[in-house]
Amino acid sequence: MTTKIAVLVSGGGTNLQALLDAQGRGEIPGGEIALVVASKPGVFALERAEKAGVEALVVARKDYPDTDAFCEALLGTLESRGIGLVVLAGFLSILNGAFIRAYENKIINIHPSLIPSFCGKGFYGLKVHEEALKRGVKVTGATVHFVNEGADEGPIILQKAVDILPGDTPESLQKRVMEQAEWKLLPQVAALFCAGRLRVEGRHVHIV
Ligand code: GRF
Repeated sequence: MTTKIAVLVSGGGTNLQALLDAQGRGEIPGGEIALVVASKPGVFALERAEKAGVEALVVARKDYPDTDAFCEALLGTLESRGIGLVVLAGFLSILNGAFIRAYENKIINIHPSLIPSFCGKGFYGLKVHEEALKRGVKVTGATVHFVNEGADEGPIILQKAVDILPGDTPESLQKRVMEQAEWKLLPQVAALFCAGRLRVEGRHVHIV
């Protein structure tokens, strides 16, 4: 059975594009990107979805009185379409416990560092790379993990290391981490999930 995938975005959507391209090359055989949801209107990710012929819509936090009402609407949207995998690809709105429990071990997130370094509350976007450079680490990377109720604390699925080079800026590092790690890892994990190859045991994910 094909797993229907929803990709949740808030920005440019290069990770969404990597997923669409991988699907186009036949690299996610058990899955189908069926829906893209943006947390605000006007983001470029919506154009990428439309161009690929994927249903795209906006569910904006600011249109709801609180996080619970927002998450209930989002959950209804996903469930009504039979979504089986939720991919957070640069999605910046908070998901509540009810949403996370409804899709337990079916929500994956990409984070642009090697968790548990440079992650948790406040670590998103360029800030992650700024902090890695400040600390003087020689290697950083990206992590795809299942989402639980802690910030970047869910079971780790795949990680990929990326070298930090002399003269790197947050921008140059962000670009290298995306090209060498994020855009490869996210489609790989989506494919493994849709092939039924991920088994979660506590904090550990086994690839079977
Ligand atoms: C990426 O750096 C991803 O790791 C983070 O948000 C960014 C999204 O970029 N979670 P894009 O919208 O996929 O280009």
